[in-house]
Amino acid sequence: MVLQYPHMATMRVKLGEETLRNPVVLSAGTCGVMGEIGDAIDLTSIGAITTKSITKEPRIGNEPIRIADLPNGMINAIGLANEGIDSFIEHQAPKADALPTAVIGSVAGDSIDAYVAVASAMNDVDGMNLIEINVSCPNTADGMEFGGCPNRLTTLLNEIKPTLTKSGMIVKLSASTGDIRPHAAAAIACGANALTLINTIPGLAIDVETMHSRISRGIGGFSGYDIHPIATRIVHEVYRDVAKEACVPIIGTGGVMNWKDAAEFILAGASAVGIGTASFVNPEIATKVAKNLSAWVNRHGCANVDELVGAMKINEQVH
Ligand SMILES: Cc1cc2nc3c(=O)[nH]c(=O)nc-3n(C[C@H](O)[C@H](O)[C@H](O)COP(=O)(O)O)c2cc1C
Repeated sequence: MVLQYPHMATMRVKLGEETLRNPVVLSAGTCGVMGEIGDAIDLTSIGAITTKSITKEPRIGNEPIRIADLPNGMINAIGLANEGIDSFIEHQAPKADALPTAVIGSVAGDSIDAYVAVASAMNDVDGMNLIEINVSCPNTADGMEFGGCPNRLTTLLNEIKPTLTKSGMIVKLSASTGDIRPHAAAAIACGANALTLINTIPGLAIDVETMHSRISRGIGGFSGYDIHPIATRIVHEVYRDVAKEACVPIIGTGGVMNWKDAAEFILAGASAVGIGTASFVNPEIATKVAKNLSAWVNRHGCANVDELVGAMKINEQVH
């Protein structure tokens, strides 16, 4: 039997001035440099793709082996391998406008000048109206330089924000700095139009026979299903204490493997949902999540998905 809903809910989500057709965002570094995952899935079924994080200079990244599979997730230490902003602007940026979904440009760097150079170049790209500032990469020597401290984050974002004359600014934070509410508040005070929570969490997997780490760098970034409850708790706390009042949307990211994980993020306070590791398991997961989220919103009789953002019911405390 096919269920018919009298009025289909709108799944559109606003991030800054950009409207996504639905809340599903493919996360940085997991869907190609410029949405190459579109060879495997229909990009009109999702809200946005995020580019690989791009730096000012090209980077070859860390030594292989850079990825280890774990039972409920993976550890990676790619080390921001990318072609650098000049090549990106020449070869990748011209594709953005033709992609049938919104495009979020991801920026990484090791100095304020380097971040500003990449962000301002991406700001000029047609069809790329959101720029995500990655201050949370655990896999390079200086990936956490700015994300680890609210004051340094403020200094960085105050230089970047004025250069984003066309594009909205998303700030992607890490869970590995402890309580990230001060970092989130700092990003919002600097004019962030959205927050992405969270990046991978530093982890270590050891081969018990060779007694070496399973990846060459030793410690890497842990992602996938097992980080989901941590990410959900962080989205809940940041939404409740910082982002809700400021009306700044959150892209809940970490361990979404199916629509229920995505729905949890929305109930915890996320307006959109990032999908990363799941696309390595099966690229079609994002499409299925978008479809089933829509059915869930309709089942709950909502006209708009945003009615469910932060709608988690809080248990009464029993003392
Ligand atoms: C192989 C791989 C590469 C990644 N590269 C980037 C990157 O370039 N920039 C970034 O901000 N995050 C990067 N991430 C982190 C993801 O965007 C995402 O925040 C994280 O994996 C948590 O989501 P997930 O559990 O759905 O994968 C990468 C993750 C993986 C697994």
